[in-house]
Amino acid sequence: MAALPSFPPGFLWGVSTAAYQIEGAVREDGRGPSIWDTFSHTPGRIRDGDTGDVACDHYHRWAQDVELLAELGVSAYRFSIAWPRVQPAGAGPVNGAGLDFYDRLVDALLARGIAPVPTLFHWDLPQALEDAGGWLSRDTSHRFADYAAVVADRIGDRVSRWITLNEPVVHMAQGYAFGTHAPGRMLMMDALPVAHHQLLGHGLAVRALRARGGAEVMITNNCTPVWPAGDDLDAAEVYDAFHNRLFLDPVLRGEYPSFAAEAGFVQDGDMDVIATPMDALGINYYNPTRVKAAPEGAPLPFETVDIEGVPKTAFGWPVVPDGLRELLVGLRERYDELLPPVYVTENGCSTDGSVHDGDRIDYLDGHLRALHAAIEAGADVRGYFVWSLLDNFEWAEGYSQRFGLVHVDYETQRRTPRDSFAWMRAALAEQR
Ligand code: FCB
Repeated sequence: MAALPSFPPGFLWGVSTAAYQIEGAVREDGRGPSIWDTFSHTPGRIRDGDTGDVACDHYHRWAQDVELLAELGVSAYRFSIAWPRVQPAGAGPVNGAGLDFYDRLVDALLARGIAPVPTLFHWDLPQALEDAGGWLSRDTSHRFADYAAVVADRIGDRVSRWITLNEPVVHMAQGYAFGTHAPGRMLMMDALPVAHHQLLGHGLAVRALRARGGAEVMITNNCTPVWPAGDDLDAAEVYDAFHNRLFLDPVLRGEYPSFAAEAGFVQDGDMDVIATPMDALGINYYNPTRVKAAPEGAPLPFETVDIEGVPKTAFGWPVVPDGLRELLVGLRERYDELLPPVYVTENGCSTDGSVHDGDRIDYLDGHLRALHAAIEAGADVRGYFVWSLLDNFEWAEGYSQRFGLVHVDYETQRRTPRDSFAWMRAALAEQR
């Protein structure tokens, strides 16, 4: 396979994981329950009845996993901090033992020359906060900022890049609108306050983190190029407003797309908080979305349609590397000088699980070439993180989807680097 083109000097190369997907040890060292514990233990919610109780046992095997990162040669590692380990009830008392875990992890990464990039919220809300309304409640925004401050006070001296939230659109849609993720609510359009309260929490957290030092702060949004099916331009525009603009316009422009602008949950001053300038923007890209108008009377005004004629991942997601270029160039055109530097904070695919994963190598190679083309076309992209280091608990799909550069045998917890791991290691060596 031909060598990748050279990326700019200082470009950050990393992999991403998330706490509930890898840590396990859900009842250890004072961790409180999260909405994912509750949800995964509710019969019928997760494929095969899987839970994150053990996952990759990373809570105990973290040192070995840091060695894998070092072997891979990444310059950064994006992981998430479990709020219920730090504040078991989501507010009030802080659990020192929970913070100790991340403190040790950060030190071990730095000792290997790997920059820690913590995400403060990757969907594992403390159950006690959900019982008080979850992200439907404005109070949760303030609790999130308090928690961000607690974490920063402990590890902020060693962290130079923070991510506040991971994919608020997915948490709102799957968690509160469709009920396919925790907390499993099915509110459809009434889930909208969840967008606002997450964004408000983000803005408050940006301020709390800023007050504690000069690290870069960003949000990570899931973004998708939206393709109209046939000439369904209106449906595509509406979908784009829900999926992309609902979470980008407020943070970058300080305003909601028109459908959400007049909502009663927006209070005076909120938009200024939400638009607190960020140093960067995290983008997770998996695939474009093709959209058509929904039939009259449907609960939502759009429907997604299969993208035909392209390869699919094991998950059935369409593989469209050029969608990453289209997305990044499109964001640049849409937001112009309001767009800060971008990090691609997740990109990757699930495969059949074999350690010989040529399909993952093709996927990564194609997306990195598309990313390079976007940079050539003027997109200011500073880093790229593969999802994921390890096979892990893929939310509603349990352990059935394998996204890792490293295979995990869940019986023995044995880690086996896949062919894609060797490919990535060689590609990173070349970039240095
Ligand atoms: C993203 C999530 C991540 C992982 C990948 C496959 O939406 O942020 O946790 O599940 O999808």
